[in-house]
Amino acid sequence: MTEPAPSYSRIQVLKDIYYGFRPNKPKFLPTDYPDLTGKTAIVTGSNTGIGLHVMRLLYEKNCNVISVVRTQSKGEAAKEQILKEIPTSKGSITVVSGCDFLDLANIKAVGLKIKEVLKGKPISIIIHNAGLMASNNLGTSKQGYEAMFQTNVLGPQLLQSFLDPLYLKKDDDLKRIVWVSSGAHLLGFPEYGINWEDPCFLKVPVEQRPSANTLYGQSKAGNIMQAKAWATVNKKIVEEIGCVSTSVYPGNLNTDLQRDWNWLLRKASTYVFWDGIYGAYSELYSALSPELTIKDQGAYVVPFGEIQPPRADLVAGLKNGTDLKFWEMVEEMIAKFK
Ligand SMILES: NC(=O)c1ccc[n+]([C@@H]2O[C@H](COP(=O)([O-])OP(=O)(O)OC[C@H]3O[C@@H](n4cnc5c(N)ncnc54)[C@H](OP(=O)(O)O)[C@@H]3O)[C@@H](O)[C@H]2O)c1
Repeated sequence: MTEPAPSYSRIQVLKDIYYGFRPNKPKFLPTDYPDLTGKTAIVTGSNTGIGLHVMRLLYEKNCNVISVVRTQSKGEAAKEQILKEIPTSKGSITVVSGCDFLDLANIKAVGLKIKEVLKGKPISIIIHNAGLMASNNLGTSKQGYEAMFQTNVLGPQLLQSFLDPLYLKKDDDLKRIVWVSSGAHLLGFPEYGINWEDPCFLKVPVEQRPSANTLYGQSKAGNIMQAKAWATVNKKIVEEIGCVSTSVYPGNLNTDLQRDWNWLLRKASTYVFWDGIYGAYSELYSALSPELTIKDQGAYVVPFGEIQPPRADLVAGLKNGTDLKFWEMVEEMIAKFK
């Protein structure tokens, strides 16, 4: 953290939470998407939920999608489903499995597999969509880190480090990176969302950890900072290639994310949450909308595809270099897995 976080209005937080349930209608829809023949997109966690919708919409526009998943069979099942639904696409879907962020030692091999699949072809879009929202905070990764921080923050940043050499090239007119965040960042810790002393709660007994909502919120505040920091760290080449890196709050959506909620809560959410496809509209606004330019580096996109500010301390953090401190802290944690 560079400087103490400015205070933020709790009333604004409540307004932002309310917006998540009653967002503006999507304005950038599949009919507005360009043809993506010859372009390649990498989408993590695309076997289900929002990622599956994203993959379908990209493939429908003839995109070559690299579907990065944990489990081969789940990835293949999702692929088969989409190939059946859209027999006319000129695109392709290639499943790359083994990407379980709960063990960082897995990720290098995933980077190598993606390199093999690409065979030197350009990557246009990377969507760091995979994510974990636990309803209780019992999760600990192979590395002993709090599970949501590792899955939602450490994993994507490590994967991105293997993609950078393949991606940071002037080889296509469309270059976008999407870091999937959440309105839940509003529930993170008071200082820019992060528990700076020990964000991974290493060796902290689970019963002494903060609530699962706070921990999920922390990880999603981290995604907002990663979107801006990645672009700043790679500023020269990012500007040369015209890449835009944004974070996205896809919406409050009925997906598998609530998989470990109890029956009653899941049932209640079906009345107030939106269909998962709306989350794809938000993510694909970030990935495809011509409205976004390098001036929007690090912008926070809200449902269902428009830019709004995140929590006020994070707005300050993206300007005063806190995002870069966060990036560097994560770099240290993942260094030995590169
Ligand atoms: N749904 C919402 O209301 C909502 C709101 C705000 C933000 N988001 C964000 O949107 C993104 C997509 O979520 P979703 O709603 O589509 O959830 P979902 O249906 O649960 O899909 C999550 C995806 O992430 C993968 N994943 C989970 N843990 C992983 C790990 N340790 N390593 C690698 N992959 C892992 C899952 O793989 P498996 O199928 O193998 O478990 C699945 O493919 C997440 O980043 C989430 O935080 C969702």
